[in-house]
Amino acid sequence: MAKMVMTVMCLVLACMVVVTPCAEAISCGQVVSGLVPCLGYLTKGGAVPPACCGGVSGLNNAAKSTSDRQTVCACLKVAYASNSGINLSYASSLPGKCGVNIPYKISPSTDCSKVQ
Ligand SMILES: *[C@@H]1O[C@H](CO)[C@@H](O)[C@H](O)[C@H]1NC(C)=O
Repeated sequence: MAKMVMTVMCLVLACMVVVTPCAEAISCGQVVSGLVPCLGYLTKGGAVPPACCGGVSGLNNAAKSTSDRQTVCACLKVAYASNSGINLSYASSLPGKCGVNIPYKISPSTDCSKVQ
C-alpha cells in the first residue's frame, strides 16, 4: 500500500516537472501518423493532398510548447532518416503550400535543441 502511494506521488511529481500536462505531450506516433498522407508528395511532388495539409496544421496546433516543438522536430528527423525517398526541397515547401507557418526550418541538419 505504501509502495503504491509512493508510485502515485512520483507520477504526480513527474507531471509537475514537465511544462505541459502529461496528457497533452505530443508523441512521435502522432507526428508520423499526421504526415502519412504527405508521403506521396514528399517523395514525388505534385499536388499536396488535403489530408496532408490537415495533418500538418493539426501537428502545428498540437505542438504548443517548446518541448512539443522539439519533439516534433526530432521525430521529423527520424522520419527523414527512415524514408530515403523524401525530397527535402518538397519537405521544406510543404508548410508554405498548406498555408501553415512552422517556426523552424525542416531539415535533417536542424538543431532540435535550439527550436523554441
Ligand atoms: C527534389 O525536387 C527538386 C524539385 O523538383 C529536384 O530539382 C531535385 O532534383 C529533387 N532532389 C532529389 C534528391 O530527388
